[in-house]
Amino acid sequence: MSETLENLYSETRQFPPPADLAAAANVKAEAYEDAASDRLAYWARQAERLTWAKPWDQVLDWSNPPFAKWFVGGELNVAYNCVDRHVEAGNGDKVAIHWEGEPGDTRTVTYAELLKLVSQAANTLTELGVTAGDRVAIYLPMIPEAAVAMLACARIGATHSVVFGGFSVDALATRIQDADAKVVITADGGYRRGKPSALKPTVDEAVARCESIEHVLVVRRTGQDIAWTAKDKWWHETVEQASGEHQAQPFDAEHPLFILYTSGTTGKPKGILHTTGGYLTQTSYTHNAVFDLKPETDVYWCTADIGWVTGHSYIVYGPLSNGATQVMYEGTPDTPDRGRFWQIVDKYKVSILYTAPTLIRTMMKWGDDIPAKYDLSSLRVLGSVGEPINPEAWMWYRQHIGHERTPVVDTWWQTETGAVMISPLPGVTAAKPGSAMTPLPGVSADVVDDTATPVPNGGGGFLVLTEPWPSMLRTIWGDDKRFLDTYWSRFGAGAGNGDQWIYFAGDGAKKDEDGALWLLGRVDDVMLVSGHNISTTEVESALVSHPSVAEAAVVGATDPTTGQAIVAFTIPRGNVATDGAAGEALIRELRDHVAKTLGPIAKPRQIMLVTELPKTRSGKIMRRLLRDVAENRSLGDVTTLQDSTVMDLISSGMRSAK
Ligand code: WT7
Repeated sequence: MSETLENLYSETRQFPPPADLAAAANVKAEAYEDAASDRLAYWARQAERLTWAKPWDQVLDWSNPPFAKWFVGGELNVAYNCVDRHVEAGNGDKVAIHWEGEPGDTRTVTYAELLKLVSQAANTLTELGVTAGDRVAIYLPMIPEAAVAMLACARIGATHSVVFGGFSVDALATRIQDADAKVVITADGGYRRGKPSALKPTVDEAVARCESIEHVLVVRRTGQDIAWTAKDKWWHETVEQASGEHQAQPFDAEHPLFILYTSGTTGKPKGILHTTGGYLTQTSYTHNAVFDLKPETDVYWCTADIGWVTGHSYIVYGPLSNGATQVMYEGTPDTPDRGRFWQIVDKYKVSILYTAPTLIRTMMKWGDDIPAKYDLSSLRVLGSVGEPINPEAWMWYRQHIGHERTPVVDTWWQTETGAVMISPLPGVTAAKPGSAMTPLPGVSADVVDDTATPVPNGGGGFLVLTEPWPSMLRTIWGDDKRFLDTYWSRFGAGAGNGDQWIYFAGDGAKKDEDGALWLLGRVDDVMLVSGHNISTTEVESALVSHPSVAEAAVVGATDPTTGQAIVAFTIPRGNVATDGAAGEALIRELRDHVAKTLGPIAKPRQIMLVTELPKTRSGKIMRRLLRDVAENRSLGDVTTLQDSTVMDLISSGMRSAK
């Protein structure tokens, strides 16, 4: 990106909080002033949400930037904070997890039962020789044992590395090797799309390449046939037979809690390292603030997989530290049918739902009539995370899921930030569809140009974080240099900005006329058209705002006259005619619609009507592959694609359209 992003789209709709929610909100408007007057004192007050075995001496040590230490000298046990203390407070019978298996089997885990399971697993790991500081890999489906395994590691000070259960042998083996893990916790398989899907064969192949692994602990979930090796131990023959008594020891606030790998766009995966006190403080605080969680009455459901940071922070550590009751679902949203999510909301009376734009757009595509069949009146706060949410998807979510009552909180954050950084507060903010609005109290974010100068309202540029925050990554595992290069060299003090260290998030963003923040996608995805920096997100949102469009992905393709030209891949809604002349008319109409919404500079050169888009397993559109198609190149690496047949469909559609 040469200078700043154009600011093309303007949104005038705005939705203030419902009066009753605002009156009873956990966090009110004063929090912004409180935090601004003394940021560190504000975070210290949030840390008091937790139970510390030893108080800290200093809130933040930033004497060796960008290597932060939060709550220096403090000691606590994460599992004690997520489990024991709720039982000690008399809430042992309270449901921690309503688990729903894909085939329809269910389990209810109370906090007392969770304490027993976590203690048993901690005892077993200790018997297997795992001690504080060792690494444990976790490769599990979405079953309660996934949360138990993470908490058992935290309880004994072992650093977990959760690897998403959909990843390949290669991905698992390289992650085990990078972290030098001693134990893998896995299952025979899990249920996906109506049938058992094996995990153990992948682990067997990976472990054969990893000398560091001493034991493999195997949960029996599907009962399918699996091969057995000398390293394997059944969970039900070890953990479930172990003592349910375990005394949690406190660990230093900066003790490594977990490593989680992000693939990024290039190079080998980065092992993002999170530590104990600051991470738990910010996940606990944000889960309470952003969702207005009332632990006595709310039923919370985050639809993410535990293999992503959203699952770490907002299924395990945030909700459990807050003593929440939550739903955990094993399977896919269309099994046995496309109403499964809404059936679950209806069944458990879910009041807070946290999901991703890709799912919201999929539900839009499937049709309004599906959620309309269920009672969704229990919902009171809706959240979104993972990608920019198009204003029309936001509106659909509010109307068809929230029935015009519920606030929608669009939460911006990253694996690296550990917890939500930018989001409306549901009881305070008059939210605009498609905007993450403002940094949370205690968070300092800005939008800057090439020279690290903040852009004025109405301008666009790079999203940066200008002050350290408690749940920030501490480094990339084993690679401090890459940590410095990736996040701190672009605008860091080393880059000539006095002594201020500025974190480069890698996202484009703009400030609107009121100063609200709009995320515009990864800067690698920005298009340069006739000298204008145009965001893929804005053009995609303009397309999705047309009633015939369900989803769109936009890329810049090399163009002899304009440098780059805009090429859009568009999925029409179910009922729209796309054959022959009707398709051509629709394409003309969509090109004009974008020109009218954003201005002629944003008019796509080409629009392809497609039935699917290439997505990663976490649901992000892989624009890199679409660029390959748009520029008639052979495809790059497709191994992280959710469905590898999608690209064949798109490429063949592309040829026939020419
Ligand atoms: C990237 C981080 C945060 C948990 C899941 C993703 C994009 C995330 C939003 C949002 C616009 C968003 C950014 C960010 N992103 N949330 N609300 N609006 N963009 O974690 O895999 O580390 O990805 O996701 O591009 O940098 P991740």
